[in-house]
Amino acid sequence: MALLEVKNVFKSYEREILHDLNFCVQKGEVIGIIGESGCGKSTLAKLLCGIEKQNTGDILFEVQKNKIREIQMIFQNPIESFSPRMKIKQFLYEPYHYYEHLNKKEALPLIIEMIHQVGMNETCLDKYPHELSGGQLQRIAIARALIVKPTLLICDEITSSLDQIIQDDIICLLKQFVQNKDTSILFISHDLSLVQQFCKRVIVLKEGRIIEDLPIKQLLESKNNEVQKLISASYLNL
Ligand SMILES: Nc1ncnc2c1ncn2[C@@H]1O[C@H](COP(=O)(O)OP(=O)(O)OP(=O)(O)O)[C@@H](O)[C@H]1O
Ligand SMILES: [Mg+2]
Repeated sequence: MALLEVKNVFKSYEREILHDLNFCVQKGEVIGIIGESGCGKSTLAKLLCGIEKQNTGDILFEVQKNKIREIQMIFQNPIESFSPRMKIKQFLYEPYHYYEHLNKKEALPLIIEMIHQVGMNETCLDKYPHELSGGQLQRIAIARALIVKPTLLICDEITSSLDQIIQDDIICLLKQFVQNKDTSILFISHDLSLVQQFCKRVIVLKEGRIIEDLPIKQLLESKNNEVQKLISASYLNL
């Protein structure tokens, strides 16, 4: 069985947003999901991690136990992942506490090692989220996801609010995740040039439907007009 199977999924709000989606994600696969603004990418992400429920169809996840741990999501706007009154230290301690049952003293050296891994230093630990920049917060969000070691990591436009240099850093960090073959990643972006850097397969959404689901190399040669439009839009942004 695939790690994740999406079968005949429909989602409507006032109107239909997602229409008959079907795809599978295998263990360790890194998949880009692209499509223009409003095509339903974030709605799909919310269904996959259970924030919203589809109207019909099935989303089958191989790991039934501890789904909240196994599927992690990183958002476009990093501040959304944080509680305003919680220090960074506490935010990073939580997964060690809940999943590994470590006390604060045991977790601290691991937390410090992890923030070094994402290019930050200890001084951030005593800060509140509003005292850090968007790029710094996104690194902390990635650090937390690294700690949790999810089976499926969903990244929804996680570099869109960041400048180019920080964007590149964040992509480097994600590549570390990719090397850890146990984690499957769904990387949602409107920018194919980013997706191309580390996704082997790409799903293209258009108005709530999958119009392509191909290995990246074949996608770049696709004759589909809509795909070609997305490709040229992405490269114009470079
Ligand atoms: N909770 C909601 N209630 C009503 N409509 C919604 C809701 N969430 C999303 N929509 C609508 O669903 C459509 C798809 O939205 P979605 O956020 O999934 O797009 P997206 O592909 O992520 O776009 P973007 O690239 O701009 O982030 C939009 O028309 C949006 O207005
Ligand atoms: Mg979105």
